[in-house]
Amino acid sequence: MSDQHEWWQKGIIYQIYPRSFQDSDGDGVGDLAGIRNRLDYLEWLGVDAIWLSPVFPSPMADFGYDVSDYTGIDPLFGSMEDFDQLLEDAHRRGIRIVLDFVPNHSSDQHPWFIESRSSRDNPKRDWYLWRDPGPDGRPPTNWLSSFGGSAWTWDEKTQQYYHHHFLPAQPDLNWRNPQVVDAMLDAMRFWLDRGVDGFRLDVIWLIIKDEHYRDNPENPDFQEHEPPHHQLLATYTTDRPEVHDIISKMRKLLDRYDERMMVGEIYLPIERLVTYYGAHGTGVHLPFNFQLITLPWDARTIARAIEQYEAALPSHGWPNWVLGNHDQPRLASRVGMAQARVAAVMLLTLRGTPTMYYGDEIGMQNVPIPADRVHDPVEKNLPGIGMGRDPQRTPMQWNAAPQAGFSDHEPWLPIAADAAERNVTVARETPGSLLRLYRRLIELRQEQPALSIGSYSPLPTEGDVLAYVRREADHRFIIVLNLGSEPARVEPPLEICGSIALSTHLDREGEKVQGWIELRADEGVIIDCPE
Ligand code: NOJ
Ligand code: MG
Repeated sequence: MSDQHEWWQKGIIYQIYPRSFQDSDGDGVGDLAGIRNRLDYLEWLGVDAIWLSPVFPSPMADFGYDVSDYTGIDPLFGSMEDFDQLLEDAHRRGIRIVLDFVPNHSSDQHPWFIESRSSRDNPKRDWYLWRDPGPDGRPPTNWLSSFGGSAWTWDEKTQQYYHHHFLPAQPDLNWRNPQVVDAMLDAMRFWLDRGVDGFRLDVIWLIIKDEHYRDNPENPDFQEHEPPHHQLLATYTTDRPEVHDIISKMRKLLDRYDERMMVGEIYLPIERLVTYYGAHGTGVHLPFNFQLITLPWDARTIARAIEQYEAALPSHGWPNWVLGNHDQPRLASRVGMAQARVAAVMLLTLRGTPTMYYGDEIGMQNVPIPADRVHDPVEKNLPGIGMGRDPQRTPMQWNAAPQAGFSDHEPWLPIAADAAERNVTVARETPGSLLRLYRRLIELRQEQPALSIGSYSPLPTEGDVLAYVRREADHRFIIVLNLGSEPARVEPPLEICGSIALSTHLDREGEKVQGWIELRADEGVIIDCPE
């Protein structure tokens, strides 16, 4: 059988937050040489691609998401040579590298912005979004920053406001200016020519704003506990129709190279999300599907969401699923340690490319951050409402050494209190560990086309149980997941027959199943059902 699928359809993406994966030079911050030293681990785990959060020169106001040079490497992470070596070593092992591209905004220290703010008639003035004040000197619109306060900052020298969806240190680029488009495509070309396998596009759904600068409407459903910018609907600042023209230009560039891909960061309802696939060959290859993060961990809700998602995909749209990232509370803290195992089975058996977040495979949890060690500007601007992202960005737990094997120096964020027990070294040696479960799931998915590229069909279930079939040619797997903490007996109309290929508890492999199955609390199984 010839297999037409691309690596990013069959493969598993693993997100690394470079500051926190492995420090190699003892400064307490992870770096590229550190990642390179850990490629053995990633190869053992079996992932196909690494997505690196930004490693470009940056003043680090938002820890790399404020880029001051799109075609360099920040010395904190190493040199361009370190990058090339990492790329080469990864490729030699069959591991792809996807870079994080941040098109919406640069750093305020980027030479483009320094020029742009220098005078009103500077040729780069129009590379950013500058506006005259509104009545009484107020900001030009009511737009709010996601990181607190107005999305406009007054520039005393040139007597205008500039727009920033995030920090004032992250001015938004003007994507209506063709020179900006060319400069950013050049930056992408630079990395493509170096051999990177693709890009994760930061906040791609909000790079273009309303050309008439209309005020955003009030959000009638705003609740007190929500972040303040939810007071307004983001009608005129996000998901504007013109964004698709920009994406299609990026896509055209990627398509001049072999086997490259773009995955877009997009938080939108499903019917809007799927528009980012574009017409065939014009959109992003994958618009991140964050439903397993944003929805309540409830079998009926998730069953409905999978169904809606599968139904909404365009015929050329390849699905994908995500369980965690550097902006979201840790999976194990959201759903609990027992359900984290069920979630792993779900992520690696649903139809679509799975994206994992470093450390979730050993059950890392949110780490409480003492006030004097807070780094995230979101926590600093909006303290105490649970929006800070440091807890999910703590150093990878490799072993029981004092800094968990991450560094020989005090790390930039604290190490989890349980690192001596919860770490890669212990988990690799413990039969039945979450890490062993991940490895086995990845192996099974890669061995079995039914699990990676096979069709998906839901099975009728009730209560806390979710079940579906993956099928390719004459091979069928039935996946049955218990999202509850009570045992569950699953009976026909499920036509269950065959033998267990894997259980979350890693202790039922080979057990015969005929007609019905009893699941323990928090258990998920993959049943091999040859036809
Ligand atoms: C989304 C990134 O994931 C997040 O970490 C960052 O703060 C914002 N974009 C701004 O770049
Ligand atoms: Mg370092």
